[in-house]
Amino acid sequence: MPQNIGILTSGGDCPGLNAAIRGIGKAGHDTFGMHCIGFRDGFRGLVQDRTMDLDGDLLSGILTDGGTILGTSRDKPHRMQMGNKTVDMTSAILDTYQRHHLDALVCLGGGGTQKNALRLKNAGLNIMTLPKTIDNDVWGTDVSFGFDTAMAIATEAIDRLHSTATSHHRIIVVEIMGHRAGWLALGAGIAGGADVILIPEMPYDVEIIAAAIRDRRQRGKRFSIVAVAEGAMSKEHATHVDELLAAKTAAESKSERKGISAKLDAFRNHHIDHTVRLTARLEELTGQEARLTILGHLQRGGTPSCADRLLATRLGTYCTELLNDGQHGVMIGVHGNKLKPVPIEDTAGKKNLVPLDHSWIQSARYVGTCLGDG
Ligand code: F6P
Repeated sequence: MPQNIGILTSGGDCPGLNAAIRGIGKAGHDTFGMHCIGFRDGFRGLVQDRTMDLDGDLLSGILTDGGTILGTSRDKPHRMQMGNKTVDMTSAILDTYQRHHLDALVCLGGGGTQKNALRLKNAGLNIMTLPKTIDNDVWGTDVSFGFDTAMAIATEAIDRLHSTATSHHRIIVVEIMGHRAGWLALGAGIAGGADVILIPEMPYDVEIIAAAIRDRRQRGKRFSIVAVAEGAMSKEHATHVDELLAAKTAAESKSERKGISAKLDAFRNHHIDHTVRLTARLEELTGQEARLTILGHLQRGGTPSCADRLLATRLGTYCTELLNDGQHGVMIGVHGNKLKPVPIEDTAGKKNLVPLDHSWIQSARYVGTCLGDG
């Protein structure tokens, strides 16, 4: 049954988005006779009705391109910055949806997008989502596209840092993306043979890290690579954040909650350059010269890996198959080797963090990697 399908990409970009858009567009049009229309720059384009026709030649040659041809943004439908005001734009979105006679809207995004998608579903739209993010922290799927490429980029960076660290007998701290989840730092750290891996799920003790580095030096290893997730924090800082969060939950008044939120924001602002301080502290505690490399958005740029192209194409094409069967209200997750629809309610608002008993953590320990705990 031919349908009108809207597509948007939302949140941080990642490699594989174009492969997914192409998968939906080509399978939708060529196999199921659907009409696919893209909305630019995430939910903002949906509000402003800025579109791109995806039935034509636009889908050719984009499989290998990084980023998203649609553009993206971190805008939220219910709290959108319009001039100097924050406005609930849900009704404008409903208007656009109806104006284009859409039968469904496919949102390609990470955790934030799942929450926004649920809001639109609750407002009455037929929504489908696909999990993308280099952080791999979307709940309800084993993996999200973008992760494999980013992990390969971070691994290659660690490989390259080894030769310069060895030559200068230095400690090199490498900051890897991942605010809440440490999958990227852990995966790249193991694959690249980092000597220390620090992730948000395991608060660290800097003395333990310094002792591990000194111990390596005593064993004749005159360099150390420390892979740190951007959201990793010391035990003291983690306790401080936990206490603030608990106080916020227990707060009885709005003003009390506001005060605690301000403290949390202040802490987060202070934490932004924590790897600079960690690098200096390790130099101080070990007496060994230390340098910092922040990989930043390099990890999100460029050509998707073959695994991400394949995954994004599978998710995109399967999405059209489900839409053709009249299904919606789900995110398509990867479970083992199978794709499976997961109700958006089950994934929105949850994060797929690294479980402390995960086999990757065990493997890292078995090869002698310091995880900063103990
Ligand atoms: O969405 C994934 C991510 O790359 C995170 O790893 C990172 O913390 C964040 O986005 C950076 O966001 P922005 O590109 O908006 O600075």
